[in-house]
Amino acid sequence: MLFMPWDTAFETGITEIDQQHRWLVDTTNELHQLVSSTSVCKQDVSYILERLMDYCMNHFVMEEALFIRLGYPESDSHIAEHNIFCEQIMDLLTRHDMGETLGVEAANLLKNWLTHHIIDVDKQYVEQFESFSQAI
Ligand SMILES: [Fe+2]
Ligand SMILES: [Fe+2]
Repeated sequence: MLFMPWDTAFETGITEIDQQHRWLVDTTNELHQLVSSTSVCKQDVSYILERLMDYCMNHFVMEEALFIRLGYPESDSHIAEHNIFCEQIMDLLTRHDMGETLGVEAANLLKNWLTHHIIDVDKQYVEQFESFSQAI
């Protein structure tokens, strides 16, 4: 069974954002598969965490640019969550680089954060995005 199946509750209706969230969910599944394996390939874990870090940064920059366009009032607290998540991924990467073998808890961290953030936090800007799109 897939570790983190895509859920319709994740859908924002904004095509580009949904595609990026799908990538993050797919990559969480890839990481889970890697760290669950009995013969974990260290290089593969590094590669996936680095790609994840890059992708998150780009995704967050895109969302944060959207907040400026929307004049989104919850921007500061939302950005703070993005920053904390980046720090958590950096921490995983550092621990991994220092020789620690990351287990399933690394994939759990991603799954829990993404589920909470997409459903409870990202979806809050959708309404404002929709009224903004209708107004232009
Ligand atoms: Fe976000
Ligand atoms: Fe997002």
